[in-house]
Amino acid sequence: ALVSAAEMLKKAREGKYAVGAFNTNNLEWTKAILQGAQESNAPVMIQTSMGAAKYMGGYQLCVHMVEDLIESMGITVPVALHLDHGEYEDALKCIEVGYTSVMYDGSHLDFDTNIEQAKDVVAKAHAKGVSVECEVGSIGGEEDGIIGSGELADPQECKAMADTGIDFLAAGIGNIHGSYPENWTGLSFETLAEIAEITGGNLPLVLHGGSGIPLEQVQKAISLGVSKINVNTECQEVFAAATRKYIEEGKDLEGKGFDPRKLLAPGTEAVVELVKQRIEWFGSKDKA
Ligand code: G3H
Ligand code: ZN
Repeated sequence: ALVSAAEMLKKAREGKYAVGAFNTNNLEWTKAILQGAQESNAPVMIQTSMGAAKYMGGYQLCVHMVEDLIESMGITVPVALHLDHGEYEDALKCIEVGYTSVMYDGSHLDFDTNIEQAKDVVAKAHAKGVSVECEVGSIGGEEDGIIGSGELADPQECKAMADTGIDFLAAGIGNIHGSYPENWTGLSFETLAEIAEITGGNLPLVLHGGSGIPLEQVQKAISLGVSKINVNTECQEVFAAATRKYIEEGKDLEGKGFDPRKLLAPGTEAVVELVKQRIEWFGSKDKA
């Protein structure tokens, strides 16, 4: 069964590792993430953006899909189903239909509204045992139509957000959605350390834009309190590359290679491998 992410991230924060939070887009990706986590004996978060959930057929369908796969695939590691970058209404909807974790992202709103709505989401989520992530500052770049300025989070605002009772906090520390530009100056560990301290030294912190951050920076971020790392773009890249290779080699033309089950297999396998590799990077292997 699905579990809330509160417990798994608390353990990660204490154990100085991070749980991978991988975005899904369809049945194949969902299976790939579950398989990668199971083979790594690692806790995992499967997340849907609002757009991806809509694409798949809605939030309720996503809950049923993940729950049914956990059963049919014999998944025994802890799995949380999380809404990624949710609007207020979407967060409430997900709480209602069975997501076990939600991100309410009010970072683009004025700060008071962000805090007020966060409080409300926390109350409704916690009443159902659902964990909550909120965001302060802004993640740069674009994801599924959501564009961020990339401004660093203000530690005082992080403290106020932490005080709403959220379970984990996403803060802009120079991280960017999508691939990183040539002239990227890296994560601001100074800001991260300040945020970790001012929020009490034990609140799990979330690193968005996990694709393309060098391993040393990932590990340093984890040592400073990052307990959840979001990965989306890299899964898309390896899926596309493996699928392209299959088609360019003409495999779709051999035998019944055009069968969608065959056509989608190399990309799916590539996502499994990436998930396993990132779980190793994040230190959550064998932490189930
Ligand atoms: O919310 C999702 C993530 O922050 C994904 O970032 O596409 O750069 O891996 P990414
Ligand atoms: Zn994000």
